[in-house]
Order: sequence, then structure tokens, then C-alpha cells
Amino acid sequence: MHSPSPSLGQSILDAADALARFSDMEGGLTCAYLTPAHRAAAAMLAERMRAAGMQVRVDAIGNVIGRYEADPSAGPDAKVLMTGSHFDTVRNGGRYDGRLGILLPIAVVGALNEAGIRLPYHFDVVGFAEEEGLRFKTSFLASSVLAGRFDPALLARADADGITLAQALAESDLPGRGDPDALRAAAVDPATLLGFVEVHIEQGPVLLHHDLPLGIVTQIAGSSRFQVRVEGLASHAGTTPMTMRKDAAAAAAEMVLLVESRCGQAPTLVGTVGQLQVPNGSSNVIPAACHFSMDIRAGEDAVREAAIADIVAGIEAIAARRGVRAEVERVPPVNNAPCAPWLRAQFAAVLNKRGLQAFELPSGAGHDAMMMQRITDVAMLFVRCGNGGISHNPLETITAEDAQLAAEVFVDFLRHFKPR
Ligand code: GLV
Ligand code: MN
Ligand code: MN
Repeated sequence: MHSPSPSLGQSILDAADALARFSDMEGGLTCAYLTPAHRAAAAMLAERMRAAGMQVRVDAIGNVIGRYEADPSAGPDAKVLMTGSHFDTVRNGGRYDGRLGILLPIAVVGALNEAGIRLPYHFDVVGFAEEEGLRFKTSFLASSVLAGRFDPALLARADADGITLAQALAESDLPGRGDPDALRAAAVDPATLLGFVEVHIEQGPVLLHHDLPLGIVTQIAGSSRFQVRVEGLASHAGTTPMTMRKDAAAAAAEMVLLVESRCGQAPTLVGTVGQLQVPNGSSNVIPAACHFSMDIRAGEDAVREAAIADIVAGIEAIAARRGVRAEVERVPPVNNAPCAPWLRAQFAAVLNKRGLQAFELPSGAGHDAMMMQRITDVAMLFVRCGNGGISHNPLETITAEDAQLAAEVFVDFLRHFKPR
């Protein structure tokens, strides 16, 4: 096979545009788990996988899984190299986050199929149904099912409208309709896997800064998310002296600043409060409640855990001093995930052969590969992000040239792939 046609890069960007037309919002891209837009996006992915030459199935959590069958000479026990990423998005997000890691492999399979090239292993492309945690405030639902790490307690989690995950699944078109046994049975057998590789936009400025189109990920930072509920006492904004208040929002403000200051104390440590509400607040009532999210990450698990311990203790101390109550709910954390040196080396060899620098960098963002790393070796190929590296934002962008190069590198990787 010659290098894939130079139109492949543009076709990947076009496919991302087409997929972005399914949105929960007007004038931007939001694709939350199991909404009508999400189901339409899943259907489009399945259709494109079939058109590229794959057999497609949808599992109990909604993952769309396309298989490019191994060359018959691989025999009945052919193993599986898996790739993929998520197609859900953050609110008003970008169109490449996650989706590039599905659409690029679909384009690659299409090119291989057209050239009549089969691989000596099954190549599975997974459109993971949920990674961002937007709807149920817990991330990696889809990859945790595939990796056999799904926690059935999550079925009781409710979205902003009070619909639980169990209800959403029961009302869906998915096999099993939320039956815990079906979710358990959807796990892939690790013994069948050769590894998991994920293509993703970098979502940061490092490759752009170094003027490099592609990078190889060394490790993915672990992350912990929390929902904090602070309860104070509603009372009159005009008559209650400042010394006699139990103001939940003022207490939360102090807690937010604690997150910021504590997470500034180690190089890879980051902490974010991305949601903060005064439920049913009024301008002339002292807030009785304030709810906020916390997202804390670090390259080393011990650094993250130490920060969490300090922050949780600090929240309790602030609450006690102010006479409010604070409840901290932790959703299952995901630990730091190292990428496998043998897979990284195979990406590096492909890049070097093309005269490209095999530049390595850690990922601060979370990825489906983190969950898959619990059951198999993983690697990630990062693609340069334009617009200063901005992501989780509609300004997120990549170029057709970089998508093309990533597709060509991925083809080379697949064709020269040597199982461990
Ligand atoms: C996923 O995008 C994450 O890192 O939160
Ligand atoms: Mn994301
Ligand atoms: Mn992503």
C-alpha cells in the first residue's frame, strides 16, 4: 500500500464536522451520555464503521465496537489489537476530543480495506459511549464496563433531572437495558487482547510550542472527582449581622481558594472547581446551600492523595469554624496509568523512520486508555492541538495535515505491529 491518499486527513476533519451536527444544544457541541444526540452520533459511527469494512456491535453500556477481521491466515484464535476513544463531550466542547480517536482509525481501516490489506490480528475500533462524566458526574462509565471494572453502585447515580443511570439504561435501546449481569458480561477477556492504543488530540500547547505534529504519551495523570455539598442557614440578607451568619456560599468560596492554593504546591498537581451552584438562591437570602465539584489530578498518585487529604481536612475545618456542614462525596478515582515502553517504542520506530522526532510527553488529561490499562498494555499517540492548545472549548482545532500524518503513522504502526 502506498501512503494513504492525502485527502484522508481532510476526510477525518469532515467526519468530525458531520458528527458534531448531533448536539444537545443549539450553536455548539454538547453530547451527553444517552441523549438523542448521543444515540444519533452512535448510529453514525456504526454506519461509518460498516462502510469502512468492519463488523459492528453495540454493547450494554453503548460502546460502538467495530471489528476489522484479521487475515484468515491468522486462524480461529486470532487476538485483538484494540483502539478507540470517546464520543461523548463536555458541555460546549470541541469536536476532536475523543472523536479523533474513533474517526481516524475508521478512516485508516477504510484505506486498508480499499487496498485489500488485512492485518494478522483482529483490529477493534471502539467508540466509547461515556468518558467525560457530564451527565452522571462520574467519568469512564464506558471503558470501565469494557475493562470489567464497572461499579454497579453507579446505577443509582442521578442526573440533573433526577433520572438515574439505571433508568436511563432501562429506557434506552441498549442490550440488557441496564441489567447488571449484562454490564458485567460486556467486559472484554483480557487474554484476547494484544494491547490498546489510543489516538487523541493533545489538548494542550506542548506539541504546538515545540513545532511538532505528533507525540508519544509516557503516562496519564491520575484523577479524583468530588461533589461537595455545603449546608448553612437561610436567613434575611438585610437583618442578619455579618457575625451571625451561616453562609454556605461564603464557606464554599473559602474552600475553592483552598483547592487553588493547595494544588499550586506541586509541579504536576492541578485542582479545579468547574461547577458551583447556590441551589434555589435569592439575592436577598443568605445561601442555605452551596454545591460544587472538585477535580484533582497529579502525575503521581501519592501527590494527589496527599493533596486530597489536606483539602478534605481543610474543608472540614472551614465548615466547623463557620458553623456550616460540609459533605464530601468522592466518585471512584482513576489512578495514574503508565504507557507501555514496548508499545511506545513501536510508535517511536515509525516516527523515526519517517524522519520525525519521537517526542514523549505526559498526559494531564484523562483518557479511556487509563481504564484499559487496568487489563492490558496501552499507548497513546497525541496529535497537535491548534489555537494555543485550547481544548474543552469550541475553539479546539487540528489541521488536516496533522490528521493525515497521524493516520499515516497509525497505518505504519498497525502494519509493523509486533505483539509482545
Ligand atoms: C477528560 O477530558 C478529562 O481529562 O477530564
Ligand atoms: Mn475531554
Ligand atoms: Mn478526551
